[in-house]
Amino acid sequence: MKITYLGHACLSIEVAGKNIIVDPFISGNELAKDIDVESLKADYILITHAHEDHILDVEAIAKRTGAKVVSNFEIVNYFGNLGIEGHPMNHGGTWQFDFGKVTYTNAIHSSSFPDGRYGGQPGGFILETNEGNIYIAGDTSLTMDMKLIPMQTNPDLAVLPIGDNFTMGIESAIIASDFVECDKILGYHYDTFGYIKIDHDKAKEAFKKRDKKLILLNIGDFVEL
Ligand code: NI
Ligand code: MN
Repeated sequence: MKITYLGHACLSIEVAGKNIIVDPFISGNELAKDIDVESLKADYILITHAHEDHILDVEAIAKRTGAKVVSNFEIVNYFGNLGIEGHPMNHGGTWQFDFGKVTYTNAIHSSSFPDGRYGGQPGGFILETNEGNIYIAGDTSLTMDMKLIPMQTNPDLAVLPIGDNFTMGIESAIIASDFVECDKILGYHYDTFGYIKIDHDKAKEAFKKRDKKLILLNIGDFVEL
């Protein structure tokens, strides 16, 4: 599994010969100006919640590639009305896709569309594949529900928000990584706006002190499982 960081909370995942985009927000992200949205491959677009910084480029990518949107019921309906194919899920549900199993997990956050329409309840995803398992938390607070995850799945990588203010910050993310029993963390949802700028060295040091590895990728770089 190859996981490429496309800035903010956007990932591109290659697994089992499929391309998955998570929470595309590229054209509105000054930091991601070197990423060409038009060249991204997608078979699936996973969406954690309806906020603009997670859905901005969904329509363009889905219409160009024919990718299927995977998200909560309300978000899949919203894009369905735009003529985009989707697979609706809800919290706690798992579905076997051709690349692996996906579970929609709990997240504590909010989820309205940019026009104020209801975007269902926010979530995260667990991907279980033959090439490894990852937990993508989405925008969320630290929550006790994260303790349920290792009872069913052992993530090889936890993708956690670390920017604070709108989501968990560093200290909460360290506890979250304990809850999900995964010491390899890819940080996301930081630096994009003024409220979520972080000191990279301090963040890595804080995880290292707890014998955990925080990976912060340059936009366009990747990690492999
Ligand atoms: Ni959000
Ligand atoms: Mn966000």
